[in-house]
Amino acid sequence: EPKCLWGGRFTEKINNSLEELNRSIDEDARLFAEDLNGSKAYAQALAKAKIITEKESEEIGHGLELIRFDWLEKAVKIESSDEDIHTLNERLLVKYCGNIGEKLHTGRSRNDQSVTDVRLWMKRAIHETLVTIGGLISAIVKTANEHKNVLLPGYTHLQRAQPVRFAHWLLSHAFALREDCLRFKDLFQRVDVLPLGSGALAGNPLGIDRELLASLLGFTKISQNSMHAVGDRDYIAEFNFAASMTSLHLSRLAEDLIVYSTKEFNFIKISDAFSTGSSLMPQKRNPDSLELIRGVAGSIFGSLSGFMMTLKGLPSTYNKDLQLDKKSIFNSFDSLKQVLNVMEGVIQTMEVNVAECEKALSPDMLATDWAYYLVKRGIPFRTAHHIVGKCVALAEKNKHSILELPFADLESICDKFSVDIEKCNSYLRSVEQYDVIGGTSSSAVKTQVDILSEIVKNI
Ligand code: ARG
Repeated sequence: EPKCLWGGRFTEKINNSLEELNRSIDEDARLFAEDLNGSKAYAQALAKAKIITEKESEEIGHGLELIRFDWLEKAVKIESSDEDIHTLNERLLVKYCGNIGEKLHTGRSRNDQSVTDVRLWMKRAIHETLVTIGGLISAIVKTANEHKNVLLPGYTHLQRAQPVRFAHWLLSHAFALREDCLRFKDLFQRVDVLPLGSGALAGNPLGIDRELLASLLGFTKISQNSMHAVGDRDYIAEFNFAASMTSLHLSRLAEDLIVYSTKEFNFIKISDAFSTGSSLMPQKRNPDSLELIRGVAGSIFGSLSGFMMTLKGLPSTYNKDLQLDKKSIFNSFDSLKQVLNVMEGVIQTMEVNVAECEKALSPDMLATDWAYYLVKRGIPFRTAHHIVGKCVALAEKNKHSILELPFADLESICDKFSVDIEKCNSYLRSVEQYDVIGGTSSSAVKTQVDILSEIVKNI
């Protein structure tokens, strides 16, 4: 019969349904390496504080490596009484080291241990997430570069607005992802704080060198209030938010791609590898990949709002509610990684129907350029807008495009029109005039590519 952690005070065994509810090992087993690393550092700090001998610390370190080997070899047998990764690793340590292993937990609590594990894990998780987002940004940049000279309608309200470069549209999504990268990097700074040495809530009374712990574990900062350190889960909520935002961005890209892949738009074709068929309609190709990306966002937002609800109104320091942080964070991390990878594949393999993109451009999208033409001839923009509006209305009445309006009609609407208005009637010219920083001209788009390549390089 394994010893219960708090057995001394209790006479009755824990109720089965509570044992099950209380157990988090199925989720936090994935923290085994962080838990072992934290323990190894803690043993060294105990030795430095002369609570255990150097030799005992080494023996504990050796035992922890044996446990790591078991984990890696999938040789760890989890028992029904194993509550979490901390109790399980300690049980195994005592199995390997006998009562020397029982000395390890001196001055430490699972409260500071579990937040140390999660912070260590999250530093890796943030890096991994950044690399994955970087992969998607690279795929977007590559596809944009390959279609540098393709134009397509830019939309507002899903109505044709102005011509833009295909690359400009696609890169707009990469810029959203760039914001996500910056957010994750910023979060990293706040995660990179050592909580170990906070004990259950009051700190450590044994002269533990927290600077040593920080340097052994690779934290650049040390928490300054033990009660805050064990009760703080801001970084969990923040990770969930950063993941939510990233997945929200993916859902918007997914929506664009779903719309653009319809026969009605037909700007792109999603590859077979990222489409599915219908069990009933033989002709169907459905963008399930993109729909799932769009849908998964809901579950990641659920992790964010659910965990915010868990935190709201909790009393100071550790409460068992906080154990639910792991489920929440692992869901958002795993789901996000999955959808990022699928989106990267979709982008890498989709076909761009260049001719269809350009066929969708229509002369009404040049109306703004006509207004600018009049502005350059001294007409205030509001008036110019009104004049061109009249041209559009007349063309519409005659059931043809503005390009087909007889010159005499133009002249009678406004005497500032002259035959060189024809110069405005080119989509390429239209796009190229937007050479401001952030515009859709080829040089402005090239700068965007440079900025995006830079963030990928610095991940
Ligand atoms: N598995 C727990 C968690 O992750 C460890 C902390 C338990 N602490 C306690 N006072 N019961 O939150």
